[in-house]
Amino acid sequence: MTRRIAVIPGDGIGAEVMQSARTVLDLLVPGTGETFEYTELDWSCRRYEECGEMMPPDGLDLLAEHDAILLGAVGWPGVPDHVSLWGLLIPIRRAFQQYVNLRPVRVLDGVPSPLRPELAAGVDMLVVRENNEGEYSEIGGRFGRGTPGEFASQQAVFTRTGVERIARYAAERAAARRGSVTAATKSNGIVHTMPFWDEVVRETLEKSPVTLKFEHIDALAAKLVMSPRSFDVVLGSNLFGDILSDLAAGVCGSIGIAPSANLDPTGRFPSMFEPVHGSAPDIAGQGLANPVGMLWTVVMLLDHLGFAAQGARLMSAIEASLRDPASRTRDVGGTGGTTEVTAAVLAHLTGQEEKE
Ligand code: IPM
Ligand code: MN
Repeated sequence: MTRRIAVIPGDGIGAEVMQSARTVLDLLVPGTGETFEYTELDWSCRRYEECGEMMPPDGLDLLAEHDAILLGAVGWPGVPDHVSLWGLLIPIRRAFQQYVNLRPVRVLDGVPSPLRPELAAGVDMLVVRENNEGEYSEIGGRFGRGTPGEFASQQAVFTRTGVERIARYAAERAAARRGSVTAATKSNGIVHTMPFWDEVVRETLEKSPVTLKFEHIDALAAKLVMSPRSFDVVLGSNLFGDILSDLAAGVCGSIGIAPSANLDPTGRFPSMFEPVHGSAPDIAGQGLANPVGMLWTVVMLLDHLGFAAQGARLMSAIEASLRDPASRTRDVGGTGGTTEVTAAVLAHLTGQEEKE
């Protein structure tokens, strides 16, 4: 069977880490017994500057013909972020009902966490972020532009369907892990949407075997730093999940290693895989980008497409490369660049083959 993958390197280091992903896929895919066919798409801020749009008008139709989307990073100085993101990333998440944003968080051997070792060792959680609604809504507007009374208003939207399906997904993942869901809330201060969120999450998980706990987002932020090991699945609305996933990545030592998947669990539409980090203009073009976030994202892509064995091999090669400072980038206390890390991961993968 041929799997069709849409490849959007995007901006800045997105293109550099995509290179790394492709090299690793070229080595692993033959072992699946199937073929990957890649559609390279130059959708980016550069394209926007040239022709005034991030992707062509039929872009989503084109993507819909693929089995998955692999994305590098979107955003570049000169193009306002809300233009680039709402012109590419967010429409894909929504049009394809990728209502789950899944972000595994682990302290990996060799990666120095800013926390004391006894707090950091063994951290292993999964952030499940609602990815289609909530605080990221388009309802609102800017009024009285240029007048002293100018104001902006934005309406968060929480639907029963949206909250139920993300809560159910979080519970399913927790049942396959350590059985606990911590739901982020702020029902003490946000008086309509958050009590509704709590109520629907509670009802949805009533008959589920997992334990459910609510934490207000402020207290949860502190607990994630002070006792990160006590969390299994962390469930959050779009904005809360966004913030918590960067916080959790920081706890693990670098946002450069954090992976993510935007999933349509029904399989009706292609899911999209992208590292959590952005385009990093400060280091772009210098060969310094940490490819681990992207390579771990490739692990998620392989799992999603049913190639768990290849995914596991890649994960163990990534972990092996992180144990050696020469094959770690500077953000995680190493001396290597993108090329060295990629070469090390490839060497570990080849070494695995020889051992077999
Ligand atoms: C992420 C990013 C995006 C988000 C931005 C770039 C719109 O921060 O994927 O976490 O907030 O969803
Ligand atoms: Mn984010």
